Amino acid sequence: MRDLVIRAPDDFHVHFRSGPGLEKFVRRTAALFDRALPMPNTLPPLADAATLRAYAASVRAAAPDLDLVLSFKLLPGMDTETVRSLAGAGARVGKYYPAGATTHSSDGIREPGEIREALAAMEDAGLVLSVHGEDPAAPVLERERAFLPVVRGLLDDYPRLRIVLEHLSTREAAEFVAAGPRRLGATVTAHHLSFTTDDLAGRALNPHLYCKPVLQDAAHRAALRKAAAACERVFFGSDSAPHPRDRKESGSIPPGIYAAPVALPLLAAAFEEEDALDRLEDFASARGASFYGLPPNRSRVRLVRETWTVPDEVDGAVPAAAGSALAWTAERV
Ligand code: DOR
Ligand code: ZN
Repeated sequence: MRDLVIRAPDDFHVHFRSGPGLEKFVRRTAALFDRALPMPNTLPPLADAATLRAYAASVRAAAPDLDLVLSFKLLPGMDTETVRSLAGAGARVGKYYPAGATTHSSDGIREPGEIREALAAMEDAGLVLSVHGEDPAAPVLERERAFLPVVRGLLDDYPRLRIVLEHLSTREAAEFVAAGPRRLGATVTAHHLSFTTDDLAGRALNPHLYCKPVLQDAAHRAALRKAAAACERVFFGSDSAPHPRDRKESGSIPPGIYAAPVALPLLAAAFEEEDALDRLEDFASARGASFYGLPPNRSRVRLVRETWTVPDEVDGAVPAAAGSALAWTAERV
């Protein structure tokens, strides 16, 4: 197959940051995606109605045609009134970051009891709980598996709450989602479908492929590819997470992969390798909208089989696969 035209995709997990980079990052995503769910671990965090409103306005100013699914960050002790006012400001999603699990999460949750009131309010308001599913106390490659019992507990304790387990990285998490109820969904990134621990650290250490959850081995990647191709409740979220080059090349490297500039080409290559290109539209442009109860996008993008070399720097950050040749490009129709 040479070209593939699909419905414009959704990115149900993306970091636009705040401050000077925001405009470029938003526009990079809007170039190919019709809808985005910006993550709330900004500085300051999106955790009250006024901050969320101002943030949404700055994202909309950068890309007025990009549809937004707004999220807020759950903080310990958050009360019903705060959740209601966030919903009033347009939030549809509350994000659970285990304390210390990833970038800007030191103010996160130590155990779910800390947000009992907020979760009950979210359940009542029909908001979706988005979960960074890692237990920071477990060994780094075990963290996702170690957190699955917490997700099980959330499903049991809040029987009407819709939950998205973000950026699956292991076979066990994919199986957990596939075996779960209809109100449990999951995102998978293009980098977890494309790279492994060996790409990160097998030869020279590549800090630009360091993210949380950390890339796992090829057997896990194969399980993620199968889930992305076939599981009705598994959909795309890029977890595109730019950091300045000097931080990513420092002695204390923050997790985060700038994936937006290469996301669709990486997805096309991974789905092609699985002989599943006919499922790409479902994964990137249909299932997520259906999980969130949103209408499908109307415009189209074209994936073209045309080799190009990923630049060393895009929007002031180093993208995933910088310097490598990719077999697909993408453009709006
Ligand atoms: O690698 C990551 N980077 N994982 C996350 O969960 C957060 C993100 C970031 O904000 O940089
Ligand atoms: Zn993220």
